[in-house]
Amino acid sequence: MNDMAWIAAPGAPLRGHVQVPGDKSVSHRAIMLAALADGTSRIEGFLEGEDARATEAIFRRMGVSIETPAPGVRVVHGVGIDGLRAADGALDCGNAGTGMRLLAGLLAGQAFDSTLVGDASLSKRPMRRVTEPLARMGARIDTDAGGLPPLRVHGGQRLTGIEFDNTLASAQVKSCLLLAGLYADGETVVHESRPTRDYTERMLAAFGWPIDFAPGIARITGGHRLRATDVRVPADFSSAAFFLVAASIVPGSDLLLRRVGMNPRRTGLLHVLRLMGADIVESDAGEEGGEPVADLRVRHAALRGIDVPEQHVPDMIDEFPALFVAAACASGTTRVTGAHELRVKESDRIATMASGLRTLGVDIEEVDDGATITGSAGGFGGGHVESHGDHRIAMSFAVAGQRARGEVRIGDTANVSTSFPGFLTLAQSMGCALRAD
Ligand code: S3P
Repeated sequence: MNDMAWIAAPGAPLRGHVQVPGDKSVSHRAIMLAALADGTSRIEGFLEGEDARATEAIFRRMGVSIETPAPGVRVVHGVGIDGLRAADGALDCGNAGTGMRLLAGLLAGQAFDSTLVGDASLSKRPMRRVTEPLARMGARIDTDAGGLPPLRVHGGQRLTGIEFDNTLASAQVKSCLLLAGLYADGETVVHESRPTRDYTERMLAAFGWPIDFAPGIARITGGHRLRATDVRVPADFSSAAFFLVAASIVPGSDLLLRRVGMNPRRTGLLHVLRLMGADIVESDAGEEGGEPVADLRVRHAALRGIDVPEQHVPDMIDEFPALFVAAACASGTTRVTGAHELRVKESDRIATMASGLRTLGVDIEEVDDGATITGSAGGFGGGHVESHGDHRIAMSFAVAGQRARGEVRIGDTANVSTSFPGFLTLAQSMGCALRAD
């Protein structure tokens, strides 16, 4: 908890052409694979957020030289697949679940011991989902009681590939096992009945590691090498999502979001907003660094409540706080189910959103794996809400404030810089009424 707070209020219509910062998932993976590659890789569009920088700092401490010739650019001098060395002391992943879970797999295959720690929020997040399958591969990782961080990873273990069913639909779990699989004897296979984001698979292929993958399956064998390659990080769909919702709910808005990453495993919110009646048009579709990108023009539209199809849940897992705000401004009822994972994100996102929206007078009922929200096209009131240190909750309430009838004070907003540095200024530049308190 910190005392950095924002005040959001009804603002002007959102207008302009903007590009949000680089993708967080891609930035983590780019640093990891570039560090382990033979040769020098250049990363452009790197997210200058605390989560990605925490991962970068960890690799520096394990002996990788990384230059920053300009903001958003990294030149990584790879040390090769077996070139990392032990750092002195614990490795701090900050707020980043992705950093900690992917590193657990990668470090399980090293010859040396490591300890992964995180901030107060990360220290409460479940790690058995990675330590248990890693143990099946032969890894030795000690956790605190209840499977919580810190993770004490014992090096020098012989790993063997396993076949794993990713029932939680977690890209972090899948990626963790694939990274451990780089160091394992034999084949590591991950099956998914609900496919998750495939950045690790795509990037391993781009760095020259043989990998077979398709929606629902990924398989690799150990014992190859990674070849340095340049990576262009697309703008983060999850950061663009706040403005897709804001422009949809504020009358008169007409906004262009440029070069947004459109990996189909990330764009669930786009489908759901369209089902609700949103006016979002894609143009200039192209490719950047092997990832689909497009410009998204979003104009205000009257939204209506829907039952969110469960098939979209993994493809919009980070977008539910923003969707809840859209639902609060829609006519009729929106039902979210099948999203139990929201309970173990940076905060319990079902409980935090429900409590904040209720404070603003929104009719929201929590269920175990989602919520039922009855919106009102007339918006809602103001009030004091808490983000509980969760970046996406803070940004979602900043968006909600644009449609509130009074001021919304949002507490504990410092962690927005983990994923979206510059959010406040960018939002102001589009017309949002948002300021630091
Ligand atoms: C991520 C996967 C998702 C997502 C997170 C980033 C990744 O987590 O919520 O923000 O980069 O692999 P889960 O794997 O827990 O669903």
